[in-house]
Formats: sequence, C-alpha cells, structure tokens
Amino acid sequence: MEKPRKKFIDVVDKAMVAANTMDRDELLFSYKGILYPVTVCSPEVFKAMESLEARSDDVILAGYPKSGTNWVGQILSDLVATFEKKMQNEESINDEDLEEFPYLEVGDTGKYERMNKLPSRRVIFTHLLPDNLPRSVFQNKAKILLLIRNPKDVATSFYHFSNGMSVLPSYETWDDFFIAFMTEKMPWGSYFNYLSEWNKYAEDENVMTITYEELKENRALGVKNIAAFFGISLTEEELQGVVERSSFQSMKENSLKTHGALGSILFRKGGVSDWKSLFNEDQNEKMDKAFEEHIAGTKLGMKLKYDVYCRA
Ligand code: A3P
Repeated sequence: MEKPRKKFIDVVDKAMVAANTMDRDELLFSYKGILYPVTVCSPEVFKAMESLEARSDDVILAGYPKSGTNWVGQILSDLVATFEKKMQNEESINDEDLEEFPYLEVGDTGKYERMNKLPSRRVIFTHLLPDNLPRSVFQNKAKILLLIRNPKDVATSFYHFSNGMSVLPSYETWDDFFIAFMTEKMPWGSYFNYLSEWNKYAEDENVMTITYEELKENRALGVKNIAAFFGISLTEEELQGVVERSSFQSMKENSLKTHGALGSILFRKGGVSDWKSLFNEDQNEKMDKAFEEHIAGTKLGMKLKYDVYCRA
C-alpha cells in the first residue's frame, strides 16, 4: 500500500549522507568474491543473516538490481496487505515498529532475530545469489518470485542509478560504466553470473520466474499469476486495485512518501528499450556475445526473449 515507510527512508537517507563524505573507491567492499555497498551492507550482517528461519509461507522476491524490484516488491507487499486486511489481520501489517528494511541483506545484525518473531506472511526482497541466501530458504521451501529483465535495459538503468545514488560509485562516461558492467565490477556482482546461478533453480517448483517485459506488457495478468503462485486469494476487484496502484505513474507520484529522496532517482523511465539511447555497435556486439556465451539456450535465457528486446 502507499503508507509512508519511515524506516525505509531513514536507512536510505543515512546511507546517502554517509556516502557523500566518502571517496569513490571506499564505497564498495568485497564479500565472498562479490562487491556490495559499505553504507548498506556489512560482513557482520551477512553472517547474522544465516540465523533467519525462512518459512514456507514467506513471500520472497529475488531480482538483480535495476530489474524492477521496487515495482514487483510493491505488487507483492500490496497483495499480502490486501489479503491480510481482508482477513482482519491489519495489526500485523500496519504496526510501524515491526517494519524492517525490505531487502534481506540490508540492516543490522539484530534484524534476523527480529524477523524470526514477525507474524506471517513476511515479504522479503533480495538481490543476492541463491548460494548466498540463508540455507533455510531452500530447506524450508519458501516460495521465491524470480524477476529478470533484459540485460541491456538493466545496464542502462544501473548506469543512471549509479550516477544519481551516492552510495554507488559514479561513472564519468557510459563507456566506462559499460566496461565495469561487463567485467564484474558491479555491486551484487555480474548480471550474467546472476542469471546463470539462478537458472539452476528455475525449474524448482517453489520458484516462479517473471520478466519485467512481460509485466510491462500485461500487468493485470502478471499480478494474477503472482497471486496464484503464492496462494493469495483475492477478488477480481481487489486484484485490479493492486494493478492500478503499481502503475509507473502511480508509484512515481507516491514516491516521496514511499521512497523519500531516492524516489526521484529510482522512478526514472520505467520502460523497455531505453538501451537504444546508449549502446553503440561495439557494445551491442559485446553484450550479444556475452549473452550467447553465458545464458542463451538456458531456461532463463529463453524467457528473456533476447531477440525481441535486445537486438539492435
Ligand atoms: P529505469 O531506470 O529503466 O526507469 P529496481 O527497483 O530493481 O532498482 O529497478 C528500477 C527500475 O524499475 C527503473 O527502471 C524504474 O523506473 C523501474 N520501475 C519502477 N517502478 C516501475 C513501475 N511501476 N513500472 C515499470 N517500471 C518501474
């Protein structure tokens, strides 16, 4: 729903202020071979995360940065909140004290013990690779919605975001960013590696994959399928409310309330094919080749419809 998210905004604002005083090369740290922003993640929190007790009724959203995780996160949170409201469980979702930062890997070391006490259903977002999630997620058969987006638009969105968001290293040129994107210098790691690793779980019955592009094409159908996957039973009218509240326009309009200062950076274009404004011929060729090598022919590779969305 569009209620203010005080804790979310506090965490982001503090991280942005801290990052403003840091040098570019201090902004990221490496953990198990993957880079993360120091202002929102830490090795101690990653270790504490192991204590999370996942549940079979958790609603987990996995997506690489810039694949639309705030969008689909809004859909999931709204589906759960609408259902809880209908079941008269409002106190469990409206208690601000119970609010946690929605991205699993962002928080303090006490977060996971607090989360273990939260009532069901918990909605959890993450940019992590499957092997870096707490083991209980797969052991306890939590359901995961895996969101993927065509790699050229992910890179384009990530470039603009890196230059707008102080917690991430900025880039003087798109060409510099492209090299970094293709050589695993991104926070949360390489997107192609992300796709390959998650592809190992794409056939799992507790994992449903959805693409940004299919949701753009038919949001009503996407919302319906997502609700069915998580066993969230709502009327057509209730589902329609979720669809309307998740339009780009509506989320952008509410963004000051939901995302604070981050909102104006995050809700940028919200479309498909903006990559055409940045990629040159050589970059197109390099990414097409990387796609062929790493992911074409796999289940996720086919789901991305690369020929439709990424060919120049
Ligand atoms: P663009 O930068 O291409 O506009 P994430 O939430 O994972 O960081 O992804 C951000 C991307 O999702 C941004 O893409 C943003 O505009 C887009 N987005 C956010 N809300 C959206 C919505 N309701 N509909 C479509 N795209 C949305």
